[in-house]
Amino acid sequence: MAAKRYGPADGKLQPKMTDYHQSKDDLAGLPQTVAEKIPVTNSPNIFSYKAYVFAKNPALVQRYIKATKADVGGVGGHVVAAEEVKSVVAKVVLENNAYRGEPIFTSLIVTHTGDDVAVTGIMAETVDMSVVDELMWDALQEGAHKAAELGLYGPGQDLIADAFTGNLRGAGPATVALPLPVRMDNASQTVLVSFADKTEPMAFNYYATGAYLLPRFNTGLVIASSKMKRGYILEIVDLDTKAQAIEAGAHPRDQRALDGKMEELAKGLQEKVIRLRAPEDLYDIEGLCRSSRFVVARIWSRNDKGEADQLGYVCSAERLHNIKTKKGFTYGGKDDPVLLAFAQGDWPAPGEITSPWAACPMVAGDCRGSHYLHILPMPINSQTSFWSGPIISAVTLSCNIHTGRIGAISDQFSLGTPWDEVRRRASELAIQFRLAHGIKQPATLPEDELEYQEGWKERRARLERQFEVKPPLTFGTNGHGAAGGEGTGSRVAVGGRGRPQEID
Ligand code: 13P
Ligand code: MG
Ligand code: MG
Repeated sequence: MAAKRYGPADGKLQPKMTDYHQSKDDLAGLPQTVAEKIPVTNSPNIFSYKAYVFAKNPALVQRYIKATKADVGGVGGHVVAAEEVKSVVAKVVLENNAYRGEPIFTSLIVTHTGDDVAVTGIMAETVDMSVVDELMWDALQEGAHKAAELGLYGPGQDLIADAFTGNLRGAGPATVALPLPVRMDNASQTVLVSFADKTEPMAFNYYATGAYLLPRFNTGLVIASSKMKRGYILEIVDLDTKAQAIEAGAHPRDQRALDGKMEELAKGLQEKVIRLRAPEDLYDIEGLCRSSRFVVARIWSRNDKGEADQLGYVCSAERLHNIKTKKGFTYGGKDDPVLLAFAQGDWPAPGEITSPWAACPMVAGDCRGSHYLHILPMPINSQTSFWSGPIISAVTLSCNIHTGRIGAISDQFSLGTPWDEVRRRASELAIQFRLAHGIKQPATLPEDELEYQEGWKERRARLERQFEVKPPLTFGTNGHGAAGGEGTGSRVAVGGRGRPQEID
């Protein structure tokens, strides 16, 4: 096995747990101003590398916030990640958090949303991104081993590549990075991190086409004095390489031709993208973003010429079942997405960004990745439940861009907020919708979008063979009604001829 490019092997930095400040100990040695606290969320513990985040003269360097998420096994089915698995992932990262004598992450958190585990941290540009990806891959592998030991469902579910090959993209885990601003003044940057479980990247189009497009969800677009009032530039990705292959001429039933074309289209992990401007291209953006195929992957603020300025929104716009591994195009399941976005200043406020979820939109996913259901905004580190319904979490991180520290976290969907009411309403709607429609559309997805559908294909193929082509079932002498009119035998027209009057 090749030597690891990260970790303490070179002897230059050997991180120990005592090298980290943990936010759970923030108040040690300080007077505590609160005696009792009502738990409203499951606050992540922030691990910060002391020697760097408390440095007197931190270097002003380009830093990134990076979030990586994968399902490495679920408790009791696909319900929730296991705390022990998260701790194993955290341990691997914290103990190997070194690259050429510097910590990879100056600050990091390990969270879960449903059955997906995520590592989110701040890193400097001096660290090679593929080295971080390798560390993430190995840490998640260790998590998968622990999941197997615990008997969790689907250990290593999202680690679909056979081995790490230099990049996490296409390998299974969702990963995104957002460059933090580099500026002398004002070290503070608010970053929103959002994870969704049991749904697909398209769900995040509600963020993009809400808070970045419509003053109804973001009054700042009209009244803020910042760049926000110029609108944004959006990059939309066409995620459906299968549809692209068919449109390029591959026959949908010619599997070889289809696979070949899909491979060609995804060569070098290239994407098919379109750049549109908000608000000028409002209808084009709304038109594309209404389906699972097109996802707003990136958003930039605009300079005084209206061109793309700062990148402030990135989401994991990938569809793994359109990416080939050694086992073919085999991934089943939706691609539970992750988002990083700036908040405040030139960007929407956290309360604006999250506001589109108050409408309880329905998104594709849920049980067997095969249904539509109302998404439930949940506190960070929550589980899924009814019908494995889609859940979304969103936290905002206060980041110090000078030191690379995540200083503190607020949970946008914590308990004791109006989101309680949204959860109640979404639950009520979801239960009604499920019970009303069951296996039928629209509660169950159309054939193309079903996951794990081998059983349906088998059933459909068997029934297909039983279908027969027959003449129509008719009654009477001329086959069009006993009275010689155009109605059926049982619906004789008044007066004996012409259209029956009761037709409406
Ligand atoms: P996950 O993608 O979250 O594992 O969900 C799979 C599923 O279909 C649950 O029913
Ligand atoms: Mg799962
Ligand atoms: Mg999941």
